[in-house]
Amino acid sequence: MKPMKEAQAENITMDFDMEVIDTYFCHGCNKEVQIIRMKHSFGPLKGKFFENIKGCDCDILDHIKKQQKESLRNKLINIFEKNSLLNDNLKNATFDNFDPTDFPSAFKAAKEYVDNFNINQPKNLIIQGSFGTGKSHLSVAIAKALTEKGYTSIFISTPKLLTKFKSTFNNSNIKEEDLIKILTSVDLCVFDDIGTEGITLNSEKAKWPSEKLFEIIDGRSGKFNIFTTNLTSTEFESTRDSQRIFSRMLDNAEIIIMNGNDRRKKHFLGGN
Ligand SMILES: Nc1ncnc2c1ncn2[C@@H]1O[C@H](COP(=O)(O)OP(=O)(O)OP(=O)(O)O)[C@@H](O)[C@H]1O
Ligand SMILES: [Mg+2]
Ligand SMILES: [Zn+2]
Repeated sequence: MKPMKEAQAENITMDFDMEVIDTYFCHGCNKEVQIIRMKHSFGPLKGKFFENIKGCDCDILDHIKKQQKESLRNKLINIFEKNSLLNDNLKNATFDNFDPTDFPSAFKAAKEYVDNFNINQPKNLIIQGSFGTGKSHLSVAIAKALTEKGYTSIFISTPKLLTKFKSTFNNSNIKEEDLIKILTSVDLCVFDDIGTEGITLNSEKAKWPSEKLFEIIDGRSGKFNIFTTNLTSTEFESTRDSQRIFSRMLDNAEIIIMNGNDRRKKHFLGGN
């Protein structure tokens, strides 16, 4: 125990009552820290002792870390918002505003997909079912929750994506390869409404969307993908093109079935 005056003799001379009562090495900031005992020199506690620490930068480092985390979070949200192709009615979809009454196990599985997300163990999710049952809502909720957890994600309406690809041919601002780069690099990609772009049609018109889609999904193998669809496995098996896309979708996939009442009709009929 050295009085402060002595301990810091070469630096500054302290006039008020303080002494170093202990020192320790802080592993948080890797610095030598002093515990100092000081006396209140004025106010109602005048003459009373209190302890303080000197030399620990943990608070500052914590603050910097929080700021870095916040800026990463904003960056990830930005990636999601800038690149996602989603309708207005799904923009606010979250787990919190999903009513799990009709689909408790789908809700549970979606939450578990987020909780068990391990970047080294990629897993696909296929959410199949009838119209308006909440397939897209749950997928948006998953993508947002993962963004909050620090992962990059995007939500793509598959038919809109293919339209966008076509438009890049006449639009020099967005290049096809930039789109592909984003699509192949994010941790999670939701391919919403897959099957409505005509991949199960045995026609010349379906050739191009099928090829494109296959190329993108194939490029994402080993990553996390969610597919929502109205098509059944029999329908996916109906053409060679949709078959090979379906085969990629099934890779390491969990399947959630959501068949039920159309929630959109419920709203239309005045329910809630
Ligand atoms: N369980 C739910 N709780 C709250 N809102 C829901 C629920 N299910 C669906 N919705 C809302 O109903 C609308 C339709 O749901 P959603 O788009 O997710 O259906 P979908 O299953 O993807 O339908 P489709 O097959 O036609 O694409 C959305 O606005 C969605 O937010
Ligand atoms: Mg949908
Ligand atoms: Zn420290």
